[in-house]
Amino acid sequence: MINPEIENYCINHSTRPSQDVQSIGAFTKEGVHGSQMLIGEMEASVLAFLINMAKVKTVLELGTYTGYSALAMAEQLPEDGKVITIDINKETSAIARRFWDQSPHGKKIEQILKPGLEALSGIEGQFDLIFIDADKNNYSNYLTWALNHLSDHGLIVVDNTLWHGKVLTPGADKQTDSIIQHNETARDLEGYVKTLLPVRDGMFLIQKKQR
Ligand SMILES: C[S@@+](CC[C@H](N)C(=O)[O-])C[C@H]1O[C@@H](n2cnc3c(N)ncnc32)[C@H](O)[C@@H]1O
Repeated sequence: MINPEIENYCINHSTRPSQDVQSIGAFTKEGVHGSQMLIGEMEASVLAFLINMAKVKTVLELGTYTGYSALAMAEQLPEDGKVITIDINKETSAIARRFWDQSPHGKKIEQILKPGLEALSGIEGQFDLIFIDADKNNYSNYLTWALNHLSDHGLIVVDNTLWHGKVLTPGADKQTDSIIQHNETARDLEGYVKTLLPVRDGMFLIQKKQR
């Protein structure tokens, strides 16, 4: 979506994730299937900014993969902060835990190995940041859950909401239509401020109106 040189320039002038997070990125790119799914440094810096700005203490993430985004968020939290992250993939979740165990921030992360909807049905309470980055066909269901579990000053961030530009072609496939449906629901929410940022593959930010 953006000239790679410009994106690198932005990354080089933004808060960067730690060496521990970068090691997850390097390991994943070297040999894990699907490494294009990593949020990368540009999105990590946006999340870091939001976590700081909204004084986030509790995070719920859908889509752990190899643990890059979970650790990037955990290291921005205070000592008593917590990330709960959910994924169905045993192998990539094990890679994540291995890397987190080498970081002083890894202890803030709790991992749930279950399908997203099943995991969410067992989670109560409210979260300051809910990051949706798992199976696209459930985006609307995840949004519904997130709206019901968001703290008053909390934020929902939904990744891949431009879906490589395919949101401009309804009917292209099931995942595209699911993301389009989610985006329309998010757009029409009342009592919330929303912005769909063209950062990487699209970051949809949603927050309850504060005034
Ligand atoms: C885009 S990746 C997450 C990337 C990660 N947030 C990062 O940047 O480091 C999506 C993940 O969603 C997981 N996933 C797919 N379907 C799922 C489901 N039904 N429930 C939970 N996780 C699912 C996949 O196993 C994959 O690891």
